[in-house]
Amino acid sequence: MDYRVADLSLAELGRKEISLAEHEMPGLMEMRTRFAEQQPLAGARIAGSIHMTVQTAVLVETLVALGADVRWASCNIFSTQDAAAAALVVGDGTPEAPGGVPVFAWKGETLTEYWDCTREVLGWPDGELPNMILDDGGDATMLVHLAVEAQKTGVLPEATEDDPEELHVLYALIAKTIEQGVDWIAISSSIRGVTEETTTGVHRLYEMLREHKLLFPAINVNDSVTKSKFDNKYGTRHSLIDGLNRATDVLIGGKVAVVCGYGDVGKGCAEALRGQGARVIVTEVDPICALQAAMDGFQVTTLENALAEGDIYVTATGCKDVITADQMSRMKPQAVVSNIGHFDNEIDVAGLARRVDATKVNIKPQVDQWVFDAGTDDERSVILLSEGRLMNLGNATGHPSFVMSNSFTNQVLAQVEIFTKPEEYPLGVYTLPKHLDELVARLHLPALGVELTELTPNQASYLGVQPEGPYKTDDYRY
Ligand code: NAI
Repeated sequence: MDYRVADLSLAELGRKEISLAEHEMPGLMEMRTRFAEQQPLAGARIAGSIHMTVQTAVLVETLVALGADVRWASCNIFSTQDAAAAALVVGDGTPEAPGGVPVFAWKGETLTEYWDCTREVLGWPDGELPNMILDDGGDATMLVHLAVEAQKTGVLPEATEDDPEELHVLYALIAKTIEQGVDWIAISSSIRGVTEETTTGVHRLYEMLREHKLLFPAINVNDSVTKSKFDNKYGTRHSLIDGLNRATDVLIGGKVAVVCGYGDVGKGCAEALRGQGARVIVTEVDPICALQAAMDGFQVTTLENALAEGDIYVTATGCKDVITADQMSRMKPQAVVSNIGHFDNEIDVAGLARRVDATKVNIKPQVDQWVFDAGTDDERSVILLSEGRLMNLGNATGHPSFVMSNSFTNQVLAQVEIFTKPEEYPLGVYTLPKHLDELVARLHLPALGVELTELTPNQASYLGVQPEGPYKTDDYRY
């Protein structure tokens, strides 16, 4: 059985959700129309590691329609939508949804299962190796890099006591595969490139590039304008509230919400919370983003200063230890604590688990109450969402289709770029050219009834651009 999902009987539901999503994903559907005949991804074997949602299912079937052979895992233990995963495996008998996609993902994986699933997508049962990675957060890329280093040096990575459980599990997996004789160097050599979805994964890529450790070229999809300025901002503006409501249903209006980080994601979160009537406090380390938040009308202070007031906390920094266990123990009664950044180390959940005065009471899946000094006069608690993992995908269904169509159209274009023109992408980290970024936006305008003004040739020459674009230089910030 070359797949592992929760329940194949959910496939019919998944298929219905996928067909509704297709209508909301005009960019992806246009990729199918434009490229189906050409089959630019024929011969591509894509190892995918990205939240296994309904929107991802439309992405996967688009890659398949363009000729790719894919294997898929989720990049988070809680983010899989089981119906979508089942639908990809089962298909519906049409050429658009042939089924048979090897998906290894279900909601509520253990960490060991998570890394096993990531490993599963990096090899085909007939011995074929992947030649492309589509990554979100960089876990599949990191597995290959660490395993190659271990194989080359003969030294297995070792986790220390201070390392998170994730690393212990990952290192054990690497040791096991090397013992089994998996040739990671061959896997890495066969990979033409990776296309990376998110801010945190992109940071990892640039770091590896700086340290001369990067093994294959990468396209930074996140920094397409039509990705980070849309998905990160407008996507979270929608899905943050969805996560809070499904998890707790506390009234947001009138409450004090604390948003840590005022980058693209933080901006979407703060706007959404204000839209619900919350008084929003922002914390920042970057003076430019702090000034932006202040001018957008938000109070900017430190987390320490906000503790006395905050009812709802959201971390959106991509940093670590942003909310400590001690700070949680000093929050208002039943404050809701959540993270929307990529990894779970923004909130010190491990620190909570180590405290002898803290006990966890599970309320429902992905909602826990952490009680401090239970049974004493000083008893108090906070509500923690998705164990500190990204709550918009753990407690809700992530961003809506229309915004993901922008992100995923960039993903498809990036896969086609690296796979079909490897000579134009020597080892390095690239963003897509501006004309493709503008194309992604263009493909989404008709659905919103947008009428675009056209430059006259005279105006265009006055601005020094072509009438059909690109309209901005690469360093324009939007
Ligand atoms: P960004 O780099 O634009 O913004 C992060 C902001 O946090 C920066 O302005 C930075 O100065 C600030 N910051 C860093 N450390 C801080 C600290 N200790 N305290 C307060 N502020 C701090 O990044 P972006 O694009 O907003 O992404 C944030 C995170 O969200 C990343 O991990 C990214 O991968 C993830 N992400 C999650 C999505 C989701 O659906 N859950 C969607 C898109 C991105």
